[in-house]
Amino acid sequence: MYIKSLVRCGLVSLVFTLGAGGASAAIATESLSMAKTTGPVSGYDFLQKETQQMQDDDFLNPGMQWVDAGREMFNNLQSKDDKTCASCHGKNGSKLDPKRIAQYPVFNEKLGKPVTLQGQVNACWTKQLGYHPLPYDSEAVIKLEVFVHNLARGEKVNVQVDGPLKPYYERGETIYRTRAGQLDMACSVCHDNNIGKKIRGNTLSQGQANGYPAYRLQHGRVDGLHSTFNECYRLFRASEMPPGNDDYTALEVYVTGRGNGLTIETPGVRF
Ligand code: HEC
Ligand code: HEC
Repeated sequence: MYIKSLVRCGLVSLVFTLGAGGASAAIATESLSMAKTTGPVSGYDFLQKETQQMQDDDFLNPGMQWVDAGREMFNNLQSKDDKTCASCHGKNGSKLDPKRIAQYPVFNEKLGKPVTLQGQVNACWTKQLGYHPLPYDSEAVIKLEVFVHNLARGEKVNVQVDGPLKPYYERGETIYRTRAGQLDMACSVCHDNNIGKKIRGNTLSQGQANGYPAYRLQHGRVDGLHSTFNECYRLFRASEMPPGNDDYTALEVYVTGRGNGLTIETPGVRF
């Protein structure tokens, strides 16, 4: 069938790209040994110099407009009874603890399950301010999340993977290593085994989360982590999952936790 043969072509070219020799293989070997000796490496290290400079300069980083928009909502958006996020967390989030934010996703005792930073923002949005829940990874909640996460920029990622989060971390790792889709690939095939190789003009990184939510140049917007998981699933033609579901939360626990010790860059700038 026509569609099937197209998919086959896709597979062949993808495998071909991933198996390509020459210069990119040399980069791969180098990055791989770098990864082995130094542990987690930020996606930043795989960017082109111009993109790094854009991220580093708050006036050039387009993600900072989203941070500003989130700050505006945080300070000024009033509920029916005149409350704002700032009523409880201080103007500009001054009472939020950056070290605590760097621990997200966390295990929530009351709910008996992990909660992502965006999940907590949405919980406050509905329970404390009385609004309807925002769809996961939608623009308004991303603005709040990127603002709050930016408060922890410069902190080290510090997910508590050994406590009650452990089973979720392990479930996330299983998802990460499970092959799926028409190309029969897994996250680990690209982000563990082929680091440093080129795919569609991008250099494969370890798929770390420390830049997220991140400004995506090709989308012209700040994207959430779960939307990027979906983008990767589409890349190897596997079925996507609804952002915010339990499997994606477990995957976020794993993907974020394996980057423990990396510096939070939010908002990262990525292709
Ligand atoms: C009426 C008070 C109140 C308001 C208003 C409120 N929150 Fe919260 N927020 C809390 C409490 C209480 C917690 C602790 C959550 C828990 O453990 O259940 C919390 C936790 C958080 C956390 C996690 C911090 C941590 O220490 O774990 C973030 C981030 C946050 N809120 C963001 C927001 C945002 C964004 C808004 C506005 C949409 C908001 N909150 C509105 C009371 C509030
Ligand atoms: C076919 C190869 C491929 C597979 C398989 C794949 N990705 Fe990706 N992923 C990419 C590419 C290409 C990028 C953009 C360049 C980069 O950072 O690697 C990316 C980026 C990412 C990023 C953002 C990294 C950053 O620093 O901005 C995360 C997080 C990520 N992937 C997670 C995953 C997860 C989780 C899975 C499994 C569901 C997965 N990827 C599967 C190719 C892949």
